[in-house]
Amino acid sequence: MNDNIVALPSEEKFQARIDAEEKIEPKDWMPEKYRQNLIRQISQHAHSEVIGEQPEGNWITRAPTLERKAILLAKVQDEAGHGLYLYSAAETLGITREEMIDRLHKGISKYASIFNYPSLTWADIGAIGWLVDSAAIVNQVSLQNTSYGPYARAMVRICKEESFHQRQGYNIMMVLMQGSEEQRAMAQDSLNRWWWPALMMFGPHDGESAHSAQSMKWKIKRRSNDDLRQQYVDQAVQQAHAIGLEIPDPDLKWNEDRGHYDFGEIDWDEFERVISGDGLCNRQRIAHHIKAHEDGAWVREAMAAYDSKRRARATDVA
Ligand code: 3HC
Repeated sequence: MNDNIVALPSEEKFQARIDAEEKIEPKDWMPEKYRQNLIRQISQHAHSEVIGEQPEGNWITRAPTLERKAILLAKVQDEAGHGLYLYSAAETLGITREEMIDRLHKGISKYASIFNYPSLTWADIGAIGWLVDSAAIVNQVSLQNTSYGPYARAMVRICKEESFHQRQGYNIMMVLMQGSEEQRAMAQDSLNRWWWPALMMFGPHDGESAHSAQSMKWKIKRRSNDDLRQQYVDQAVQQAHAIGLEIPDPDLKWNEDRGHYDFGEIDWDEFERVISGDGLCNRQRIAHHIKAHEDGAWVREAMAAYDSKRRARATDVA
């Protein structure tokens, strides 16, 4: 066989690089399926960050104090930045921002199902920060070791900011639990509504997961859905109990032999319904995103016009 064929990058060579814990970079050879899997996961991760701003943004004008408003503003702005990071990481794989946004608007791309639930009370802002960002941290800490370089590096920065998000959410819940009976009831009601959707953030059970086996082989995923979910439950239950909240799961029980909490079954019919577009807020979330995208078209056009003028000037000068 001539040298060119031998030198041809192969799946085996690629897998050997993955097994050797090498980071795959944008200009490296990669199987097309690896590329497409990453575009799928990273773009959906980015969509989640941006759509997730809606339920929280809903309470910026209604925050109970100026300080809470400032903190929530900072968090929502952080999420927009996380989205930009992740869209940029996905773009290194050869997809454009426009294509990703188009796939979101057409329902081809998903985003985290949890953001299709309404934020009904101020306590929901606490529950989202505490529960959703804790789940994001558990998942994203493991993604810091994902095999694709730009994605792994984006996770390092994002994880640092998520810990602030989680602390401010937990602080909201703690303060409410130290408050009046109504405030304590509001916090417990919020936990009751957000607990199970938070467990869904880790995806289907490992045996039902369409992508996990291949994603684990390619070290896109470093830990399984169920493994991450279990870590999350073990820590969240203790945090809830520490401030007097009760987990809405009658099957929750510490299992001494396993060293973990046993917990009830997730409503996978609800999960499938929500990720197929039939959740409480799916239509509202996408309609809002489409309107914001259309309203912002003039900014993109102005930047494109400025950029082409700048390039033309640079060519004239050269
Ligand atoms: N919401 C929506 N869709 C979900 C989902 C969820 N919670 N869990 C799984 N799915 C989808 C998958 O996308 C996949 O559908 P697809 O083939 O159309 O993409 C299908 O269900 C099967 O699930 P798999 O487990 O086989 O899919 P993955 O291997 O991709 O695992 C995942 C799902 C664990 C979410 C993985 O994609 C992942 O780790 N993604 C990166 C983390 C992420 O996206 N987090 C979203 C939250 S961001 C956030 O919380 C912002 C915070 O700062 C507020």
